[in-house]
Amino acid sequence: MSSAHSVKSLNHKFSKTELARALRLAIADEYEAIQIYEQIAESTEDAKIKEVVMHIVEEEQKHADQFWDLLARVIPEEHGIYDSAVEENKEIIGKMKK
Ligand SMILES: [Fe+2]
Repeated sequence: MSSAHSVKSLNHKFSKTELARALRLAIADEYEAIQIYEQIAESTEDAKIKEVVMHIVEEEQKHADQFWDLLARVIPEEHGIYDSAVEENKEIIGKMKK
């Protein structure tokens, strides 16, 4: 999926910070693609189009997950922050259900 975001020239070797930034943009692009594809699927009554587009959505989610894994490889300390945020959200949601 093309993006309005940009990263430096392919001839440039990224620093750790630049690589993390590029991976975050890639993650955002995957979620943007998911949003667009879900809107396409919801906008049609054509079952085949819905099926194919939702399959693509599943693939984009896998891509997002893969980029998250790569980001965790580049900056494992940041991944810990996301993990703790997920746990915090589960705790908050758990309290809301009671
Ligand atoms: Fe993708």
